[in-house]
Amino acid sequence: MRRALALALLLGCGTTAHHDAVRTSTTPPALASEAPQPVAVRINHSYEGKRAQDWGSFEREGREVFDHRDEILGALAITPGTRIADVGAGTGLFTLAFARAVGEGGLVYAIDVRTYFLEHIAARAREQALANVKPVLADQRHTGLAAQTIELAFLCDAYHHLELPRTYLADLHRALVERGRLVVIDYDRTRPGTSAWMKDHVRADPDAFRSEIEAAGFRLVAAPALLRENFVMVFERT
Ligand SMILES: C[S@@+](CC[C@H](N)C(=O)[O-])C[C@H]1O[C@@H](n2cnc3c(N)ncnc32)[C@H](O)[C@@H]1O
Repeated sequence: MRRALALALLLGCGTTAHHDAVRTSTTPPALASEAPQPVAVRINHSYEGKRAQDWGSFEREGREVFDHRDEILGALAITPGTRIADVGAGTGLFTLAFARAVGEGGLVYAIDVRTYFLEHIAARAREQALANVKPVLADQRHTGLAAQTIELAFLCDAYHHLELPRTYLADLHRALVERGRLVVIDYDRTRPGTSAWMKDHVRADPDAFRSEIEAAGFRLVAAPALLRENFVMVFERT
């Protein structure tokens, strides 16, 4: 009941013009039988019973994507008015920056499977007077977005957390407009110096992730060498 109330509050914030864009997606039946990725399932257990405040490490110096957040934002060349989904938004490291970049005419969906992250992002957006942030509760099958409602889907350190990547990618494909962009930033466990922990934590190599994403109807259009530990791949929805 508390969870339902929290969700109702979350879905009630943000701009009203886009309310019809959430919680209406359905999973293509052909993908319903996809087997979960065992490594990723274990990964997401670490978020249980926690609070957003326990994840200060997401926005701390020494984390590569935090240290290079400005270069990442610059490389995305976001224009005002864009509708973005920050998928696996966590504490909102990129959500809030996106909201400033897209301006009042744009919209940022902060998508996560944990209500506490969404509540945290909603509070931060209120504090910063950013009315164009819309928290959306996802699950492992659904982004929570309606068809053709975003121009950019962004996953930072989140792709390897998807437990049903094929199913989820199909839902993201639906949510993107034609020729919309999908940006994936994730650890490259093949790079020299990768720890044994990281090799175990991330379930596959970048080439395997790329193949999964291309098989879901995306075309790789760029792979800027911005980072040392992480790869950056930019796809276009075909
Ligand atoms: C390592 S955090 C990354 C957070 C943020 N993107 C960042 O880089 O700071 C991974 C996030 O993915 C979320 N997550 C896991 N599975 C998800 C799914 N199927 N859809 C949306 N978010 C998911 C987790 O709850 C967590 O917030």
